[in-house]
Amino acid sequence: MAQAKVFVLVGGISKDSLNRKLFQFFKEEAAGKLSFDQFGIESLPFFSQDIEDDPPESVTDFKKRIAASDGVLIVTPEYNRSFPGVLKNALDWGSRPYGSSVWGGKPAGLVGTSPGAIGTFGAQSQIRQVLAFLDLRLMQQPEFYFTFPKETPGGKLPESARNFLSGYVSKFADWVSR
Ligand SMILES: Cc1cc2nc3c(=O)[nH]c(=O)nc-3n(C[C@H](O)[C@H](O)[C@H](O)COP(=O)(O)O)c2cc1C
Repeated sequence: MAQAKVFVLVGGISKDSLNRKLFQFFKEEAAGKLSFDQFGIESLPFFSQDIEDDPPESVTDFKKRIAASDGVLIVTPEYNRSFPGVLKNALDWGSRPYGSSVWGGKPAGLVGTSPGAIGTFGAQSQIRQVLAFLDLRLMQQPEFYFTFPKETPGGKLPESARNFLSGYVSKFADWVSR
C-alpha cells in the first residue's frame, strides 16, 4: 500500500520555531511510514466573511491540499496557555464557507512543544475543543506534551525523547492508515 499522506500545520511561524524543529524530528522518525505535505499557514490572510466566497489562491490551495490528504498533523506552540491565533485562523479557513469544511472525518494527530514544564498541555487542551467541533478524528492516545530540551547535541534529541516520539509516530501511522 502507498504511504499515507499527512497534511501538516505547524503553529510556530518564526524562523527558529521549536515546533518546526519538533516536526523535523517527527519527519525523521516517520521516514518510510508516512509522507508529508507541510503548508505555511502564514500565507493565509486573516479570515473574513467578506472574502470567504471568493478567497485568494492561498486559501483554495490550502483547502485542496487538505482534501487530498489522508490525515492531518497539528504541531502547536503554547501562547498564554492557549494555541496561537495564526493556527486558529487556519482552522477557521478550512471550515468555511458553511457546509464546505474540509476537516470532517479526517484522522488527526496533535503534538506540541515549548520550553515550559507542561510542554503545551494548556494549548492542546484548548485546541481539542475546536478539533472536536470540526469533527476531526483526533487520536486520543498517546498524548504528546513535550518540553523542548535545552540542548540537542549533534542536532539530535536525547534518547528518551526520541523513544517517546517514535512511540507516538508508530501509533499515528497506524491511525491514519486505517
Ligand atoms: C505570546 C507568547 C505567549 C507565550 N505563552 C507561553 C505559555 O503559555 N506557555 C509556555 O510554555 N510558553 C509560552 N511562550 C513561550 C513559547 O513556548 C516559546 O516562545 C516557543 O518557542 C514558541 O513556539 P515556537 O518556537 O514553535 O514558535 C509564549 C511565547 C509567546 C511569544
